[in-house]
Amino acid sequence: MLNDKKVLYSGMQATGKLTLGNYLGALKNWVTLNEEYECFFSVVDMHSITVRQNPTELRKKARDLLILYIAAGLDPKKNCIYYQSHVSGHAELMWILNCYTYMGELNRMTQFKDKSRKNEDNINAGLFTYPVLMAADILLFQSDVVPVGADQMQHLELTRDIAERFNKLYGDVFTVPEAYIGKTGARIMSLQNPEKKMSKSDENPNGSIYLLDDTDTIIRKFKRAVTDSYSEILYRDEQPGIKNLIDIYSAVTNKTPGEIEKEFDGKGYGEFKLAVGEAVASTLKPLQDRVAELSKDKAYIDSIIKENAEKANYFATKTLRKVQRKVGFPDRIR
Ligand code: TRP
Repeated sequence: MLNDKKVLYSGMQATGKLTLGNYLGALKNWVTLNEEYECFFSVVDMHSITVRQNPTELRKKARDLLILYIAAGLDPKKNCIYYQSHVSGHAELMWILNCYTYMGELNRMTQFKDKSRKNEDNINAGLFTYPVLMAADILLFQSDVVPVGADQMQHLELTRDIAERFNKLYGDVFTVPEAYIGKTGARIMSLQNPEKKMSKSDENPNGSIYLLDDTDTIIRKFKRAVTDSYSEILYRDEQPGIKNLIDIYSAVTNKTPGEIEKEFDGKGYGEFKLAVGEAVASTLKPLQDRVAELSKDKAYIDSIIKENAEKANYFATKTLRKVQRKVGFPDRIR
């Protein structure tokens, strides 16, 4: 790459509203990665249409997510923040990789099975080959590391298998990516069911704090958070609801669970929940202000979109041409 830095790649879907879990578990921790890595963060709008979308909403959500990346502190001059659909190499590489991926492999993907169950009336081929598009995303940029949650590990494993298979046939074409295991963020659970991850697709909106929820909403949701009847603020597995609240408070205040237990020793759940709600609201407020400010600056955001799409296209094309040559496509005449 440009400067010998290793490449880090990640993407997020613009569907659903991003939650506090996405922020504390991922986004917030991405901000300093560019010091060590050449970073690419895409808004994977092509993945989104595997499930039926309202076009106007998809366009808006994709832009909102891109703005959120920047508002969260990802410097768009130092990180390539772009829309997947603006780089046609994703689709072109995906087609080629489709021909090096087995039906049997895709059939084993647990996310495909889950999503098929949830979208019984629209089990389209895109849903099935979704992981190949993800492999194309990653391999197109010769990525070394990919920060992914546990739910995407199987897709990353498949990506590695495809890359190795291709390299075996054609020589060292692709960097074989690894999961990024740096400082990872907190795993935030649903406020209504602390056994379940906080999710943007949760049907119960009280389970999730959305990044753009206002202060009153945030505090109300924390007040309603499911806890237990121990009446003690202790960081332990028997109290998953309280444990989750401690994790959240810890992530936004940088206090350790031990310090938090001490701070709230002898205090009631009501008081604790309010403190967590207030701490979260004051963490999100500056982010929300920045989103509002950036959203108004159309010219600036457009210039970022243009610039970064060009940058992404440049690197993508390099890989793509090499791959096309390897599989036997004719050279372009210039
Ligand atoms: N499939 C990922 C998810 O739903 C998003 C994604 C698409 C992605 N392409 C990627 C993540 C490439 C990491 C790298 O979370």
